[in-house]
Amino acid sequence: MLRNKGKKIGRNDPCPCGSGKKYKKCCMNKEASGAIDYKKLYADKYNIRLKSQKDVEQIRTCGELVLGTLDLMESAIRPGITTDELNTLAHDYAVKHGATPAPLNYHGFPKSICTSVNEVICHGIPGDLKLKNGDIINVDVTHNLNGYYADANKTYFVGECGPEAKKIVSVAAQSLKAGMAMLKPGNHIGDIGWAIQQYAEGENCSVVREFVGHGVGFEFHEPPQVPHYGKKNTGIMLVPGMVLTIEPMINLGKPDLFVADDNWTAITADRKLSAQFEQSFVITEDGYESLTPFEL
Ligand code: MF3
Ligand code: CO
Ligand code: CO
Repeated sequence: MLRNKGKKIGRNDPCPCGSGKKYKKCCMNKEASGAIDYKKLYADKYNIRLKSQKDVEQIRTCGELVLGTLDLMESAIRPGITTDELNTLAHDYAVKHGATPAPLNYHGFPKSICTSVNEVICHGIPGDLKLKNGDIINVDVTHNLNGYYADANKTYFVGECGPEAKKIVSVAAQSLKAGMAMLKPGNHIGDIGWAIQQYAEGENCSVVREFVGHGVGFEFHEPPQVPHYGKKNTGIMLVPGMVLTIEPMINLGKPDLFVADDNWTAITADRKLSAQFEQSFVITEDGYESLTPFEL
């Protein structure tokens, strides 16, 4: 630890390098990361591949296409459209922009996006289901552009929705926000799930345990796993260059689920509503940047 006149520098003190910024926002993390080779440590110890600035740029560019696809979904979603029509729109948009939709043929998944309606938690398969007024639908988009992956999803209202739909969509969005607030070097993976669980259960909703966020970028799913429940100060420490998703699935009723006969579609056991929002993030020297940013 750098010392000044024999006195330890506080996190909130002015940085001794003279930048005018706080120590914690300036040289504190640089020193810590300079002292330890996190790239090697995280690869060897956790199988986590930290990303360079150039890698992050590529993931960000892919993220722009993912966001473009989500915007297209928003403009297309209306009563009467089928989830397969949404799939075709998203697929064609990706291909037109030089990307490959990552879900297609991923462990046998048959379509290019996931479409999860009402009590479907995640991994719904696009098909001939027609959306109707009052439904909620999550569309999860992951593209591969030039070998780099970005992953994001949103839950949309179909026409005019009732109070239960409004409640679960709002709590899911704010759950992601609660998780994001934990993203900075020195915090731990467990802090993310802790913050989400505190918030969501405080709103009388429940957190799905069976599916988690994940590292992303070089592959669709990389270590570490990012649970949306948990304890403060547990799990792997966040360091600059980590790229991961947070994607809390929040249920209006109980957290339990079952998987349908198609071996993909996850559905709430009590058939109550479920909603989800997801973004891909990079941990930076002083916090985080969303590589698939949208308002929550
Ligand atoms: N996009 C999902 C996630 O957020 C994963 C979908 S896997 C698929 O991790 F095979 F269903 F596409
Ligand atoms: Co994901
Ligand atoms: Co996703």
